[in-house]
Amino acid sequence: MLLKIVLGFLCGVTALASQNDTAQQGPLPLLLVSFDGFRADYLKRFPMPNLKLLHSQGVLVEQLTNVFITKTFPNHYSLVTGLYTESHGMLANNMYDPISHKHFHIGNNTDPMWWSEAQPLWVTALRYGYKTAAMMWPGSDVIIGNRTATHFFHYNPSVTFQQRVGNVTNWMLGNETEQGVKFAALYWEEPDRSGHMYGPDNATAMGKALKEVDDNIGLLMSELKRTGLWGRVNILVTSDHGMAQCSAERLIRLDDCLHPDNYTLVDLTPVAALIPLKDPEAVFALLKKCHPHMTAYLKRAIPDRLHYRNNERIQPIILIADEGWTIVRRGNKLPRLGDHGYDNALPSMHPFLAAVGPSFRRGYRISSLQSVDIYPLMCHLLSVPPQPNNGTLNHSRCLLAAETCWDVPLVIGLVVGVLLVLTTITVLFRFLSHRRHLSGPRPFQRLQIEDDDDDDPLLQ
Ligand SMILES: *[C@@H]1O[C@H](CO)[C@@H](O)[C@H](O)[C@H]1NC(C)=O
Ligand SMILES: *[C@@H]1O[C@H](CO)[C@@H](O)[C@H](O)[C@H]1NC(C)=O
Ligand SMILES: *[C@@H]1O[C@H](CO)[C@@H](O)[C@H](O)[C@H]1NC(C)=O
Ligand SMILES: *[C@@H]1O[C@H](CO)[C@@H](O)[C@H](O)[C@H]1NC(C)=O
Ligand SMILES: *[C@@H]1O[C@H](CO)[C@@H](O)[C@H](O)[C@H]1NC(C)=O
Ligand SMILES: *[C@@H]1O[C@H](CO)[C@@H](O)[C@H](O)[C@H]1NC(C)=O
Ligand SMILES: *[C@@H]1O[C@H](CO)[C@@H](O)[C@H](O)[C@H]1NC(C)=O
Ligand SMILES: [Zn+2]
Repeated sequence: MLLKIVLGFLCGVTALASQNDTAQQGPLPLLLVSFDGFRADYLKRFPMPNLKLLHSQGVLVEQLTNVFITKTFPNHYSLVTGLYTESHGMLANNMYDPISHKHFHIGNNTDPMWWSEAQPLWVTALRYGYKTAAMMWPGSDVIIGNRTATHFFHYNPSVTFQQRVGNVTNWMLGNETEQGVKFAALYWEEPDRSGHMYGPDNATAMGKALKEVDDNIGLLMSELKRTGLWGRVNILVTSDHGMAQCSAERLIRLDDCLHPDNYTLVDLTPVAALIPLKDPEAVFALLKKCHPHMTAYLKRAIPDRLHYRNNERIQPIILIADEGWTIVRRGNKLPRLGDHGYDNALPSMHPFLAAVGPSFRRGYRISSLQSVDIYPLMCHLLSVPPQPNNGTLNHSRCLLAAETCWDVPLVIGLVVGVLLVLTTITVLFRFLSHRRHLSGPRPFQRLQIEDDDDDDPLLQ
């Protein structure tokens, strides 16, 4: 209890100190950048001079624990809502909604119905009165809560990184007639594309892809410097998920276990979602013993820690492949050399977070954070009241320059020290007053003091 009070005090005291700008012109603009499929350990395995330069001037979270399922749309939506997938409804890259009987596919995703169980930050900030931008972030061009961001682009992979950054910096700068945006989200497809194509273990191919990613980070930094935004905006560079190496030796063939007439398949790998037809118990029994590297769950038995159960769009049976295993229907064809979607407890599924800007500490590093904690941090930076979410601002507070954060062991040491001193004083005081009593009663002491007070010339 006492520790809680002390911690709360230490974290809270300084919050107001460096928000001087904020009080005058509102919060600093915030730019959120995602490099799809950037596995946390790429930072250690490959030289990334620009990214290192960026986080050395700010903060680095070495690993983010992302959300299940570790796919692109679900995780990008969690970043901008702070919600687990079961709570924002973007549950996979392929979905079926049993109420509307609609199907979702990442290539056909602009029906608002799929997105409307949550509100992304670009809509919340817009309702709060700020201009916002979403550059090809999943959901950018979808009308959510009747709104889109002030500026957005339809997804188009042929628009280069430079063009995306050029447009985003223009939107952030604003002009005589148009105020600059306070929140912008920017998406880039690499290193995900190369990770799928070559596999994360191919050092030659990934080295080349990550060199390009790092060049793009350099381009982003120089563009922000050229336009004078660097040092006046907060920048988060992160990703949605990592990447696991797959191989043709690690295939799980569904058709070997069960005739396809027995179920409707909604999604396939590495997390299959299926609706059993006819006899669900018998279908589940067959899937359960299908393969040692695949776990079958009835919807109600999906583990709590995955936060993947309480939604209509989660199908009656899901199958989760072990890391690096691929579920196929039949045959020996491996669809991709790298894949993601696996259990979010696996380090290979984790991305990272780097942040730089006036609100962040410099040269600070922590080993981990939950990706849902980024949303309350962004709301705090923008002074926008967060929507209900599954993140905790206190987990990420220490990344902020305005917060004086102490090691928990240090604080415990301090508290113990203070208690010791207090105890000593109390004991000493008792001991002394005891001795005074021993030296004889002084019944008129109190009266005498009062008399003294009355006679004190200073009090008049
Ligand atoms: C704080 O705000 C005041 C009033 O706008 C300004 O004069 C001062 O320079 C600001 N200080 C800092 C450190 O930004
Ligand atoms: C896209 O999805 C809608 C329903 O959400 C459906 O009506 C339409 O046929 C789909 N289009 C394509 C090209 O699949
Ligand atoms: C969205 O707009 C429609 C009409 O255009 C209206 O009926 C509906 O209430 C609006 N929804 C929200 C969330 O504002
Ligand atoms: C904005 O993007 C378009 C491509 O859609 C590109 O032609 C244009 O040059 C970009 N603007 C800037 C300032 O980079
Ligand atoms: C790695 O990828 C390159 C293409 O960049 C390819 O030529 C090479 O065969 C791959 N190596 C392995 C071990 O798969
Ligand atoms: C699966 O489908 C096959 C072929 O339609 C059928 O013979 C079999 O009884 C079904 N099995 C179960 C468990 O429903
Ligand atoms: C996540 O947040 C939502 C919205 O507040 C809430 O409904 C849900 O119960 C939360 N999930 C967990 C596991 O706490
Ligand atoms: Zn991918």
